[in-house]
Amino acid sequence: MTSDRRLTGSRLDESDAATNGNGNGDGHGSDLAATRVMAAPSLQPQTRAANPLVQMRLGIFGTGYAGLVTSVCLAQLGHTVTAIDKDPEIVASLSQGRPTIHEPGLREVLAANIEAGRLKFTTRSEDAIAGSDIIFVCVGTPPRSDGRADLCQVEEVARTIAPQLDGYKLIVEKSTVPARTARWISWTIRRLAGPEREFDVASNPEFLREGTAVRDFLQPDRIVIGADSERARSLLLDLYKPSFDCPIVLTSVTTAEFIKQTANAFLAAKISFINVMSDLCEALGVDVATVARGIGLDPRIGGSFLNAGLGFGGSCLPKDLSALITVAEENGVDSAILKEVQRINTARVERLLAKLERALWVVRNKVVGVLGVAFKGNTDDIRGAPSLSVVPWLRAAGANLRIYDPAATPRLKELYPPDDRLVYAESACEAATGAHALVVLTDWDEFRSLELERLRSVMRTPIVVDGRNLFKPAAMQAAGFEYYSLGHGDVAPSVETPRVEV
Ligand code: UGA
Repeated sequence: MTSDRRLTGSRLDESDAATNGNGNGDGHGSDLAATRVMAAPSLQPQTRAANPLVQMRLGIFGTGYAGLVTSVCLAQLGHTVTAIDKDPEIVASLSQGRPTIHEPGLREVLAANIEAGRLKFTTRSEDAIAGSDIIFVCVGTPPRSDGRADLCQVEEVARTIAPQLDGYKLIVEKSTVPARTARWISWTIRRLAGPEREFDVASNPEFLREGTAVRDFLQPDRIVIGADSERARSLLLDLYKPSFDCPIVLTSVTTAEFIKQTANAFLAAKISFINVMSDLCEALGVDVATVARGIGLDPRIGGSFLNAGLGFGGSCLPKDLSALITVAEENGVDSAILKEVQRINTARVERLLAKLERALWVVRNKVVGVLGVAFKGNTDDIRGAPSLSVVPWLRAAGANLRIYDPAATPRLKELYPPDDRLVYAESACEAATGAHALVVLTDWDEFRSLELERLRSVMRTPIVVDGRNLFKPAAMQAAGFEYYSLGHGDVAPSVETPRVEV
């Protein structure tokens, strides 16, 4: 790899990024990227060449969201991938082409690459380490009770790799980790492998969103490569550059780690910001979606991540924000803005429940239909989902629940098995049947296109409390609903027209 190659194309190195600044470029870039992804008809890589110039052998530790999507997509680019998971059941399922997560497009790419012989799953670490050019660390970094990221699994990977090094290896962090984690990985491997072994640790964070992860990988808006040696940088450029025509940010390992944490914290801040504005919109009788559009068309602001509602959940934004707060505190840096983002987010569910309670007056023995338990649409993931707060609250308040989600019901069932006060429905309409109120917790497209007249006709009292602002208040009013949203405007019947209990 020559330094000339690093200067070609649309990539930025660290100094370029610094001189270009973060203002106009960033906001505009993300909008353009969003448009490109949404418009893309297929899951083909946004590619320069059908096959990579350099085919590499890659080992991937971890087959969770990041690990599985990274594995199948790197195989799709033409590399030979061996992915490791400790759980034999997961390995068996994936080896048979059965995805362990609900992710659009994943099944097809998984099957095609197993079939092509480029993708294997194993429980044996040696199968992924021996002969591999690059090893990706994609294991979980769940939150600890003190808010820090738990790096036990990352350390375990380092300890596993160290005695098995068979020549130079590049070890790449994909998991979201606090800045400077790579130093600990290096230190651990060096201590266990001895001074003569050759290896580098680099950071190549992922920016995949659940629900669009395969597209996000194959059509990235940018690639961040954090490497402190020329050899590591060249290897990662060889891995990606032939396949992608997007900006590549070349930087140090610590900067790359921090870029990832900062990206998620900023996205979280954007959501909390619009949520505060949505409360103000309600007070002023203004529609938050229109305000979001009005500001989002400014390329400095950008239109994405301005959907007001129940706030951010999932396994990434809440966890990464907490971890960043601890990093700020440890370094004596004011974390007030980050804590406020977190506080605003936590209050969203309370606001929704207060609206529901106001609408129902007495919750006890009322039938409440719950639409959506996943933390967002197009996924079966319930980690950090509002449903995990709403469902226990409603149960404690004595409601009878009828719950429906297009994909995530089995996950919630594990926590809350059905009983005489909790029914899992097969459709939204079934969940609404006989309900005194419906609560919308997830932005599934399927809910947006519900037949409103039919929905109303099966409900006992036509009350909808919409935590995702999926419906237009005027349409809900026209369909005969009492409709509550978070920033879209409430449509309640006048005091002269009391509800009739059936
Ligand atoms: C997030 C980031 O968006 C990815 O770039 C990143 O790679 C990933 O975390 C990660 O660190 O692995 P993800 O957690 O899959 O991805 O989901 P998002 O699409 O970011 O949504 C997060 C939460 O914010 C969801 O609960 C969603 O409903 C909520 N959200 C999102 C809003 O409330 N409003 C919005 O406008 C957007």
